[in-house]
Amino acid sequence: MSLSVVILAAGKGTRMRSDLPKVLHPVAHQSMVEHVIDSARAVQSDNIYLVYGFGGDLLKQRVVGDDLTFVEQAEQLGTGHAVDMASPHVKDDEDVLVLYGDVPLTKVSTLQRLIAAKKENGMALLTVNLQNPTGYGRIVRMTGNVVGIVEQKDANEEQLQITECNTGILLANGKDLKRWLSNLSSDNAQGEYYLTDIIAMAHSEGKVINTAHPDTEIEVEGANNRVQLANLERAYQLRKAEELMINGASLRDPNRIDIRGDLTTGNEVVIDVNCIFEGTNTIENNVTIGANCIVINSTIKAGATIKPNTIIENAVIGENCSAGPFARIRPGTTMLPDSHVGNFVEMKNTTMGEGAKAGHLTYLGDAEIGKKVNIGAGTITCNYDGVNKSKTIIKDGAFIGSNASLVAPVTIGKMATTGAGSTIGKDVEDEQLAISRAKQRNLDGWKRPTKK
Ligand code: UD1
Ligand code: CA
Repeated sequence: MSLSVVILAAGKGTRMRSDLPKVLHPVAHQSMVEHVIDSARAVQSDNIYLVYGFGGDLLKQRVVGDDLTFVEQAEQLGTGHAVDMASPHVKDDEDVLVLYGDVPLTKVSTLQRLIAAKKENGMALLTVNLQNPTGYGRIVRMTGNVVGIVEQKDANEEQLQITECNTGILLANGKDLKRWLSNLSSDNAQGEYYLTDIIAMAHSEGKVINTAHPDTEIEVEGANNRVQLANLERAYQLRKAEELMINGASLRDPNRIDIRGDLTTGNEVVIDVNCIFEGTNTIENNVTIGANCIVINSTIKAGATIKPNTIIENAVIGENCSAGPFARIRPGTTMLPDSHVGNFVEMKNTTMGEGAKAGHLTYLGDAEIGKKVNIGAGTITCNYDGVNKSKTIIKDGAFIGSNASLVAPVTIGKMATTGAGSTIGKDVEDEQLAISRAKQRNLDGWKRPTKK
């Protein structure tokens, strides 16, 4: 059976107090509606119909895919009306799953349970038991069977006692759904076309209405304001943190990590508090990451140690390397195995050779640094003349004295040495010592100035 998904996303989201359509507000690395689209794809949907009302242009810019069809609901006349906007696209012989653009945390396994619950000639509802059901549509059962849904505002005293609630997520056959939607009326307390009214229609046609349930309430919660959005964010992050721990990573505090994208971790990985991982990151076995690090689209290879407050972006940190505290490793940087950068070292588009070290206060940009090179504190590669970027090449075993300015393009030969405080603008041959600084003069009889 083919499957289409209708995602309702027409609500304006006034309580967000934002120009951005509600469903474009982010949870972790992507908007709420993108999470929902991911779930739709994960259950193998053939088509996704996105029902939008406001900010259509923005939505179309931000949310893309060959399987997506944008369907406008110009006026928000109710959830039934919203789903009906997709009816012209829906095929008779397919199943239709209704999801919500502002309910991003529904697990794929939950949707699969719902899909499995639907019988050939029936429909399926995702329902949840809530301690406080106020505001939700209530599931009305007779002798155990679902016979309808009544909205809070239309419910009588007895129905208000029901705690089994409608999440809004449901699955029905395309032909049935279109027939039921075309028969909806808005004769109710809110004057809306309720999607929920199709349940009584299904029952009166003798359809079997089965239910499935989420593992936790958060899976079916939406965000109407930024407090609820932050709530979803925390729940999402805790879920991610738990996945990492199950996969063998140790988190010093699972409540203090943020994963905005895909993070793969090996065994014996230890991550201290307040680290942020963005994009696609791979962390291999036995890596330790100190507090307050930010890692973006990078690979950290086995045995490396990242000390606190280090920022790594589009870089590769090799086996058994160490970086930080307070290192900034910018795009295009590769640290080869056993190399080390210490505090206040910035690197960009640089290769740090095997076993090379830059312990303190250094900028290495567009540099190729050989094996076991030692870079003294305060070394700067002057890679930019205001117009062009140039390369600095430092060959194996070279020793750069502290506070050097290496004016690129420049090459320092193998085992060469540069004196502290030197400005090096000319190439240095292998094993040479290069010094370029004014000779020290010690003057006798000089007097300090005195106050007049
Ligand atoms: C709906 C259900 C209720 C359920 C609750 C769960 C109906 C009639 N009621 O109520 O049984 O317990 O969700 O949260 O379905 N939307 C549109 N176009 C519209 C109207 C709504 O796209 O014309 C979208 C909204 O943006 C929102 C979603 O549908 O994402 C739900 O709409 P909302 O008005 O919040 O429904 P509830 O009153 O909460
Ligand atoms: Ca709602």
